[in-house]
Amino acid sequence: MENIIETVDLTKRYSKAVALDSVSIHVRQGEIYGLIGKNGAGKSTLFKTMMGLAPYSSGEIKLFGSKSNKEIEHARQRMGFMMGAHFFPYLSARENLEYFRKLKGIADKAEVDRVLKLVEMDKVKKKFKSFSLGMKQRVSIANALMGYPDIVVLDEPINGLDPQGIADFRRIVQKLNKENKMTFLISSHILGELELMATRFGFIHDGKLIEEIDRETIRNKTEEKVIVKTNDIEKATYVLEQKFPNIEYQVNGDKELVISKMVEKTDEIASLLVSKELKLFKLVAQEISIQEYYLEMITKGGTDHV
Ligand SMILES: Nc1ncnc2c1ncn2[C@@H]1O[C@H](COP(=O)(O)OP(=O)(O)OP(=O)(O)O)[C@@H](O)[C@H]1O
Ligand SMILES: [Mg+2]
Repeated sequence: MENIIETVDLTKRYSKAVALDSVSIHVRQGEIYGLIGKNGAGKSTLFKTMMGLAPYSSGEIKLFGSKSNKEIEHARQRMGFMMGAHFFPYLSARENLEYFRKLKGIADKAEVDRVLKLVEMDKVKKKFKSFSLGMKQRVSIANALMGYPDIVVLDEPINGLDPQGIADFRRIVQKLNKENKMTFLISSHILGELELMATRFGFIHDGKLIEEIDRETIRNKTEEKVIVKTNDIEKATYVLEQKFPNIEYQVNGDKELVISKMVEKTDEIASLLVSKELKLFKLVAQEISIQEYYLEMITKGGTDHV
């Protein structure tokens, strides 16, 4: 798959502080990319530099494979962007979006109504200043979706949404991703919020992009499993299959057996193998969640885990 957003060693310094430290991010066409990092990690700074709203110190930004500043500017017109909710307080949602429609040069007047319907804000008449945080977020998301951009970049869009709002948001994103082939880049400081939505994750910590990883790969790494090292794998699998006909396992190399799930049967597996005179060099139950995986990664700095 083609990278449609790419940075190469992107670095941004604020006098002394380094907000982005050699970030090389790769967002591929058609994915829902979740950028995860805690407060101050550098998420907003990365998005702002990407969108041309803040200068950077060194490195490179490529959007749709752009090779010049002119091409980058052109590429940015194909991107919808949401960052905070900066709207006119005394205008309604519709009036605000009408203003941005004209500013963005979107000719189709029906766009405002279409995107307001998507976020279920089409019937709300009151002024922006009296909206709840969740309503403001919805208008902000709608604004980013106006004009069918190819890429939608959303900075903490879930912040302030209630559980129903989060579920609606997920549904909208997945539908647009599937039906309109829109690529999404979404940040959050809470991994769980994007866990059900993102197809790939990037983890950012202290300005460094620690890892980019597919959801499926995380799933495999974090799935509950029992890992067994023994002197006779063939005998071990035979014995285990006799006892647990539905067992699912994988053999890594010639000494390690990885049994899916069955963490609660770890003791039983151990005594069964020992009773059949197998030697147990290692037996561990792994029950790591995606959240734990992430926490472990940021504490280790992403260097020596895999
Ligand atoms: N205008 C600024 N001047 C100086 N330092 C800044 C400025 N903006 C951001 N920073 C610093 O850059 C780092 C990254 O900030 P950034 O806002 O990108 O983080 P974030 O991941 O978006 O955090 P949050 O989850 O709180 O939104 C932080 O250490 C922050 O203090
Ligand atoms: Mg931020």
